[in-house]
Amino acid sequence: MPSRPTIRFARMTTPEKGTVVVLSAEDTALGAAARACDPAQVFDKAFKVAGFTGKSGTSLELVAPEGLGLDRLVAIGTGRESSLDEYAWMRLGGSIFAALRKPSDVSVVLDLPGTAIGAAEAASVAGGILLRSYTFDKYKTRKGEGDEHDATKPARITILCADPAAAKKAFAEAKAVADGVMLARDLVNEPANALGPVEFAARAGELVRLGVDVSVLTEKEMKKLGMGALLGVAQGSSRPPRLIVMRWNGAAAGDRPIAFVGKGVTFDTGGNSMKPASGMEDMKGDMGGAAAVLGLMHALAARKAKANVVGIVGCVENSVDGNAQRPGDIVTSMSGQTIEVLNTDAEGRLVLCDALWYCNEKFSPRIMIDLATLTGAIMVALGQHHAGLFANDDVLAERLLAAGQTTQEKVWRMPLGPEYDKLIESKNADMKNIGGRYGGAVTAAQFLKRFVKDTPWAHLDIAGTAMASPANEINQSWGSGFGVRLLDRLVRDHYEG
Ligand code: BES
Ligand code: MN
Ligand code: ZN
Repeated sequence: MPSRPTIRFARMTTPEKGTVVVLSAEDTALGAAARACDPAQVFDKAFKVAGFTGKSGTSLELVAPEGLGLDRLVAIGTGRESSLDEYAWMRLGGSIFAALRKPSDVSVVLDLPGTAIGAAEAASVAGGILLRSYTFDKYKTRKGEGDEHDATKPARITILCADPAAAKKAFAEAKAVADGVMLARDLVNEPANALGPVEFAARAGELVRLGVDVSVLTEKEMKKLGMGALLGVAQGSSRPPRLIVMRWNGAAAGDRPIAFVGKGVTFDTGGNSMKPASGMEDMKGDMGGAAAVLGLMHALAARKAKANVVGIVGCVENSVDGNAQRPGDIVTSMSGQTIEVLNTDAEGRLVLCDALWYCNEKFSPRIMIDLATLTGAIMVALGQHHAGLFANDDVLAERLLAAGQTTQEKVWRMPLGPEYDKLIESKNADMKNIGGRYGGAVTAAQFLKRFVKDTPWAHLDIAGTAMASPANEINQSWGSGFGVRLLDRLVRDHYEG
């Protein structure tokens, strides 16, 4: 097991052993509590000698002078910004963890001149520490070699702050969310030989422990419901599909739920329209949307969110055997609409259209948001720093944009419109599953829109943000867990209480 640090909170004192971490603003000003840890004022000279200015994301590590009982002193830059937001505090937590090297009791002195650091801020720092400490090393028989996460990193971090009891309480919520993010990362990172639809459903089943109601539809049940689009994708794999339905009931029994729907393609070979070999291994992450939905359900249940929430995941492997669907096949979706499958690699929309329809019919949700690693085209459009947001409802879109700003899981609104819808008309069926050469992320979204009726709906294309993620202060993992913090924030701000 990777040693995730355990985090405690305690009243501000001057630590007498181990490593002490202090915060330094951009003018290298230390607070009184930080200065008390350094009576000989070795920091002052060290800052000058090392050229440390307190810039955000920088750190300086010193061997502690004799006589204090301490091992080392570490200063972390907080930058010039006088008021740090939630994400900035998380990022700071990430920088703190990154600066720790050897096993040691670590005390973090949360003190910065001119800044009130409350319980929420302390909890955000702790959340950032947890997220930065994440590693996926379960298959490494020699842990920690050649990666920044030395297995010998500290197991115990004490955050010294003004109101430890309040911080502990706030951290229980922050930890619920961080655990949800890490669950999503685990699922995305897991190779497809270990995680097919059946195994994925088993992972969802573990949420029962948190009070989530989980039920799983098998192939037979999906056949009965007429999910011909999803089943057409699944038929080329010897691994049977699953439709996972999760429910968290944190509000009054009669309240209509909000719903999240995830693309759970546990591996995407492309099927008969097969993908090239180079980079195909990344398609173990083609269940990033489903992973985010599981992570979100974990977060909401673990922090006992006061909302009724449905999470639905369509889980299939898009593989190719003698029974695999062929280009030109026509399938009938649960909605009754027929689809000409012109490219078996445009499978995500085929899975989602039945999952969305089922969700809408069965639960009449107030809003419905799907997440999917749906198109390479969204990466061409937006790169890896924004997910594509498509919505039939401006209020929902605005809320998601705002949640993206707060969490820095950023989304960028993309267009929908009848001109694009025309591009998926088919000669032989009600629609085809690909558009033309251009606007591939838009035509994919237009396709989904045909399965949501008038329910306020948003589609997040997370192909660029869920996997192969650029590293940052709170994530060094290939699978980022994108979407969990974003949607937890959305629920928190608009759909609770
Ligand atoms: N899972 C892929 C999209 C994808 C590509 C996700 C790269 C993450 C990284 C999806 O199923 C797919 O293959 N889409 C095709 C659609 C095309 C055939 C219309 C694509 O984007 O090329
Ligand atoms: Mn595909
Ligand atoms: Zn796919």
